[in-house]
Amino acid sequence: PTALHSVQLRVNGELRDLQLDPRTTVLDMLREHLALSGTKKGCDHGQCGACTVIVDGRRLNSCLTLAVMHQGSSVTTVEGLGTPRRLHPMQAAFVKHDGFQCGYCTPGQICSAVAVLDEIRQGIPSHATADLTSAPLLSAQELRERMSGNICRCGAYANILDAITEVGGAA
Ligand code: FES
Ligand code: FES
Repeated sequence: PTALHSVQLRVNGELRDLQLDPRTTVLDMLREHLALSGTKKGCDHGQCGACTVIVDGRRLNSCLTLAVMHQGSSVTTVEGLGTPRRLHPMQAAFVKHDGFQCGYCTPGQICSAVAVLDEIRQGIPSHATADLTSAPLLSAQELRERMSGNICRCGAYANILDAITEVGGAA
């Protein structure tokens, strides 16, 4: 049997002290050890973005990173952004613009979208930015590029874009 490792980190503002198999991903830590099932497992291979969470201010595919690598980090999941009674502005915009159908990709889309607007506010360039010399950073092309790691099998992309554009414009 593999020896367990002790990991302390903050999840949605709460300090957590866990004993984990070192092979445990952040995704499995959230879902299996902390019962935070809002973060979804789509592919478990870094291809779909359903597992996206925000770690120390940056979005991350939680299926691709081990919990033991994040000792002392702060993790925010969709549960930490808002609650059904107090929705985060991005969650409210997804509801308003019908930014989901089955909803499976939605927690990842929302975490990604929140982090994307932060990236833009901080002036962090994307791959598209290099080709967009005069285009505004919040253009549809720019947002599509930045959100391209989040796949939606229902094809709700147009409405997702509307939701992010509204929150970005109001930010
Ligand atoms: Fe992590 Fe698909 S489950 S990218
Ligand atoms: Fe169904 Fe995106 S809403 S996968």
